[in-house]
Amino acid sequence: MEKKAATYFSETTLDPQRSRELTDNCHWQSCFSRPQTFCFINQKGGVGKSSTCFHLAGAFADMRFRVLVMDVDPQGSISQGFFGSATVEELAASETVTSVFADTWTTGDAAQLRPTRFERIDVCPANLELADYNTPRPETLGLDQFALREFIDSQTGYDIVLIDCPPNLYRCSWSAMIAADWVVIPVTPEDFGTQGLRAVHQAIENARALNPNLRRLGHLVTRSDGRMLVHKAYERRLRTKYGNLVLDTLMPELSAFKLALAARTPVVLHDQRCRATDLTQELAREILERATVRQARRQVA
Ligand SMILES: Nc1ncnc2c1ncn2[C@@H]1O[C@H](COP(=O)(O)OP(=O)(O)O)[C@@H](O)[C@H]1O
Ligand SMILES: [Mg+2]
Repeated sequence: MEKKAATYFSETTLDPQRSRELTDNCHWQSCFSRPQTFCFINQKGGVGKSSTCFHLAGAFADMRFRVLVMDVDPQGSISQGFFGSATVEELAASETVTSVFADTWTTGDAAQLRPTRFERIDVCPANLELADYNTPRPETLGLDQFALREFIDSQTGYDIVLIDCPPNLYRCSWSAMIAADWVVIPVTPEDFGTQGLRAVHQAIENARALNPNLRRLGHLVTRSDGRMLVHKAYERRLRTKYGNLVLDTLMPELSAFKLALAARTPVVLHDQRCRATDLTQELAREILERATVRQARRQVA
């Protein structure tokens, strides 16, 4: 850790603000005894799971963390975000996370990990071939439930792992919860049915039987429009119901997120000076703060 810190400081002698930011990052890194794994879960589609993961990867990499993005959604949206759809569709199972679910990988085999154009971001991609393995009733699968966890645990050289999950609670999301330290639940402020969220919370509770380390980091309100009263009302209801389990940072509906995705570049690396970048950086900091504070509490308890 000391060696890492020394590198950060030497990179930043010219800019005191940047230096302060990186000092903070060193503080966060030194609080984690091992890489932190965050999965993004909601059985609804279109709530911003992939988009948030994609842009957060850029924010964490910009903070000098080494990031591994695990795509466990057969739709492969985040993989396509980084590499384009043609490339992703052509990948063989051995070059994707499918080999992890099919149990055809061996320790030390890194064929599934693809560097991106961006420093400190690697992706383990997914494409439609994964669909065959995303079966319902994953809790009946015995040791296969731990395959993803085993794969992630065997990777070295990352500080943060982000797992982008499909819009259901089948094997891929289940495996992610068994592999992760933290669950982030992205929600759009228009879904007034609580049925869906209840199922998510139940699944987290069930997964904790196999992964007692798993914690809820919180609900993240995405795609909100502050001018719409209905969105504000939903946010208030969510905060009343879940209290501190709702992140302070909101991810509003902003075209900058879409534009950056279209340019296959996380927004922080695409446009340093826009609101979407500021908010993504704020979200990255809040996630780290919550993870650090709660981890410290757990160690004390
Ligand atoms: N905060 C946002 N602002 C603007 N567009 C967004 C935002 N979050 C998500 N989107 C867009 O909404 C669509 C669905 O988001 P996505 O991340 O794919 O959802 P999910 O992964 O939950 O299915 C995508 O086209 C994405 O670019
Ligand atoms: Mg998605």
